[in-house]
Amino acid sequence: MNYLYQKGNHDRVFVLLHGTGGHKEDLIDLAKYMDENAHIIALEGDVDEGGVKRFFKRKAPGVFNIQDLDQRRDKLFDFLDTLADKHALKRDEFVALGYSNGANMILSILYAYQNPFKAIFLHHPMLPYEDRTMCLQKGLKVFIGAGENDPICSKVMTKTVFKDLQAKEADVTIFWHQQFHQISRDEIEAARRFYLKKV
Ligand code: MLT
Repeated sequence: MNYLYQKGNHDRVFVLLHGTGGHKEDLIDLAKYMDENAHIIALEGDVDEGGVKRFFKRKAPGVFNIQDLDQRRDKLFDFLDTLADKHALKRDEFVALGYSNGANMILSILYAYQNPFKAIFLHHPMLPYEDRTMCLQKGLKVFIGAGENDPICSKVMTKTVFKDLQAKEADVTIFWHQQFHQISRDEIEAARRFYLKKV
């Protein structure tokens, strides 16, 4: 998997997953704004959908190829261990931050691994599975950024993600803005406040 590594000055590591059509550089400024001293691992999706990069295949907009998602999820998760070894990073200091397609990949990890990250930032996520239960460990810190008028992530679905995380006793906060699918300025500020207070 194509990735970019930037060395930090303390143990914390941000793992960044961009949205559909994005690039590995997309979320670096956001992570640096939250913690300028953290290491950065910025991943780039392997799937090429007509020149558009993604982290897993889909059958149609909003319809995931679950088999492909599961395979790539496990591969990506193993790759993080490889990167921790390669760059001498503490795996238990990894914080995952994803937008849209990247957030969906991170969320899928919570259905398969109990304690995958120190904290998770999901900007505009969708429920990856309808018929599975999350298996994350209680107390996991999760921030969700959402748009009241997001045409891709419906309010109902976003609320379901939030409730499912609450049911698993995650330490979850949701921030709503009045806009669409984009990460807004006030969403960034809310994510930063969550990071500084809780992580
Ligand atoms: C996805 O395919 O992951 C979601 O529809 C969000 C997106 O458009 O990337």
